Amino acid sequence: MSSKKPIFFTVLLLFTFACINAQERTTIELNKGWKFSKGMNEKAFENNFNDSKWQTVSVPHDWAIYGPFDKEIDKQVTAIVQNGEKVATEKTGRTGALPYIGEAWYRNQFSVPNFDKNKKVILLFEGAMSEPKVFLNGKKVGEWNYGYNFFYFDITDYVAANGKNNLAVHLSNVGESSRWYPGAGLYRKVKLIVKNKESIDQWGTFVTTPVVADDLAKVNIKTKVNGDNLSIVTKILDSFGNEVAVNKSNAIFGNEFDQNMAIINPKLWSPETPYLYTAVSQLYVGDVLKDETTTRFGIRTIKFEPNKGFSLNGKVRKFKGVCLHHDLGPIGTAINKAALRRQLTILKDMGCDAIRSSHNMPSLEQLELCDEMGFMFLAESFDEWAKPKVKNGYNRFFKTDAEKDVVNLIHATRNHPSIVMWSSGNEVPDQWGSEGVKRAKWLQEIFHREDPTRPVTVGMDQVKATMESGFGAIMDIPGLNYRLPLYDEAFKKFPQGFILGSETASTVSSRGIYKFPVVKGANKQYPDFQSSSYDLEYCSWSNVPDDDFVLQDDKPWVIGEFVWTGFDYLGEPTPYDEMWPSRSSYFGISDLAGLPKDRFYLYRSRWNTTDMTLHILPHWNWEGREGETTPVFVYTNYDSAELFVNGKSMGIQKKNNTTPQNRYRLMWMDVKYEPGTVKVVAFDKDGKAIDEERIGTAEKPYQIKLEADRGTLEANGEDLSFVTVSVVDKNGNPCPTATQQLNFSVTGKGTYRAACNGDATSLELFHLPTMKLFSGKLVVLVQSTSEAGKIELTVSGKGLKSGKLALNSN
Ligand code: GAL
Repeated sequence: MSSKKPIFFTVLLLFTFACINAQERTTIELNKGWKFSKGMNEKAFENNFNDSKWQTVSVPHDWAIYGPFDKEIDKQVTAIVQNGEKVATEKTGRTGALPYIGEAWYRNQFSVPNFDKNKKVILLFEGAMSEPKVFLNGKKVGEWNYGYNFFYFDITDYVAANGKNNLAVHLSNVGESSRWYPGAGLYRKVKLIVKNKESIDQWGTFVTTPVVADDLAKVNIKTKVNGDNLSIVTKILDSFGNEVAVNKSNAIFGNEFDQNMAIINPKLWSPETPYLYTAVSQLYVGDVLKDETTTRFGIRTIKFEPNKGFSLNGKVRKFKGVCLHHDLGPIGTAINKAALRRQLTILKDMGCDAIRSSHNMPSLEQLELCDEMGFMFLAESFDEWAKPKVKNGYNRFFKTDAEKDVVNLIHATRNHPSIVMWSSGNEVPDQWGSEGVKRAKWLQEIFHREDPTRPVTVGMDQVKATMESGFGAIMDIPGLNYRLPLYDEAFKKFPQGFILGSETASTVSSRGIYKFPVVKGANKQYPDFQSSSYDLEYCSWSNVPDDDFVLQDDKPWVIGEFVWTGFDYLGEPTPYDEMWPSRSSYFGISDLAGLPKDRFYLYRSRWNTTDMTLHILPHWNWEGREGETTPVFVYTNYDSAELFVNGKSMGIQKKNNTTPQNRYRLMWMDVKYEPGTVKVVAFDKDGKAIDEERIGTAEKPYQIKLEADRGTLEANGEDLSFVTVSVVDKNGNPCPTATQQLNFSVTGKGTYRAACNGDATSLELFHLPTMKLFSGKLVVLVQSTSEAGKIELTVSGKGLKSGKLALNSN
């Protein structure tokens, strides 16, 4: 979005801030030196309290992720209606069992460089959880109810001309306000923008590409501005910074310039070729440059057509998407670009090409990364409209705030080429009743008014009701959440000529945990509160991945799917909502630590069409199960393979159409366990052996092994290396059942940030430097400091040879 080349330095402020500077505008990130106190109500007005004893924190900050987990925090006696429940029972861990409920204050001080009467000062929040009330120098500047949205205030009239300004933000999270862990605090960035009175408005630039052909693209740039006698110069740069178009204009329409420029032989944006251009907008009064902003954009076309489905740049494709909640596992909701980049890197390897920000506004960081790395984006807004799912959810604000929330979502994010669809809601109870139909239309029209270039969907689970009421017919894109048996009927009844699987699967599994006998089933529960990783377990409303694959492959009018979910998230521990301890989801394709579960390879075998997948499950350490039936599955894009246990053939399996599982998995159901080696040999179309993979029975845990996702970090105090910690036997074989308690220490120019083992039942705190392995693995997050240099991570555990890993930062 609009920004200048970053220059990081210490400005004349009371604290150190990251600062983006230019003569015409200065953007200061208020990230350091915040004072934080929990438990004080709003009446404790900012000038009347002494913050010397408050905790010093940096922002982004999530106050609740430090725990402790406590079942009493979010205990509810309720029937989860969306899950089809009719009788109220005690539920725990629904919102992560972390202490997010309560009120808190954040304070900071800043001075505005060169402030005078010709300046304008904007205070921007990219999200604040929740119900932020903002005060400057003792006066209330404004408030914004929805914790997920971007908002800003013009604080020019509140700024002290010389000296320091006292900023105070009051936040309040009430119980029963969410169906998952919402996080708490100033969890996204806070920025101060100092510019001239004559300047480009905040989010005032809107770039679209109304004409795209092979040899030419017409780029339209609308720029909202403030001031008199203005002219604008807009330059378009290619990805190397070369100017490819320029336009000067003094034709202003009201308060808006409207420029049209041609780009010859444009390079189109797609997930495979995420090419980005930059528009540099310079605002002049006479010859004097008053403002300059840069806006990144892409050139691409999107179309949704009956029978044909979705096409990007003229090519039909189906969404290979995942839904993601906003928490980042062990660091909670505090936004962190390295953590987001790692998620997307893992998803890219799986072949995923689309993300749905369920069920709220995405972060700018996530959108920037999707633009750069190549992911299409379904940007959602709400989980509730006027009718509640949870007592204190968005229903409290819908009538007064929905329009301005949609407007801010669109204005803040509309230049991201990754966004190809908006969603105005997820499974809103307003699907029932005629008022809901009106709300669907009203909201969709706001989206169209603010952005005529993208269609709107709603994730619908009440498919029958929306067929009858006309709700589904209104939507640009009818999105179905689950309800596979209704796809055909919905396709016939809805007028759009295609269906999107806006939410699919909701299969449950725990990484590295397998249950016997291996039988497909809904709502399965076990005494250890884990779900089986044979990927055959689901909920009453959901299904296994293969059932979606059938529709995706056989129905040309199904335009893709968004799997629930790419990663496990805090809260919603179905099928163990009623059990304690369990505090995070089992739905993820990868676990809460980002470690792939077996399902990752099932999706990879379908979605990643450039790399081969040949993955064997379960692990082969089953002491005590000798001679017992232990089915072996192989997830692969090869059609057939032969399995060997200790050299003995278990026969050849070939994918076939007898059941959805047989169509997408190779399965040897009658294998009897004996320790040793399991080998799979895959065949090409002509039956020739071309690939093989093996797993073996490990001996006793011997040594700790460390593997970093990135060895070199940026010395900016926030970059992260994710180090996968595993235990191997003396021959180097992974020990898949190890559960040892490990300890972590980081020396040099780095700090220990957090650890996570992906066990949904663990009550160990992420930020303490000790944790048990879960299924032989966990992940340690090492954070850079602002000084460059060497970093060393040591991981030790009783009876194990320690692991040491050298990292760098610069
Ligand atoms: C859906 C809902 C999601 C999540 C999921 C679990 O119905 O939209 O938010 O609750 O079920 O299966």
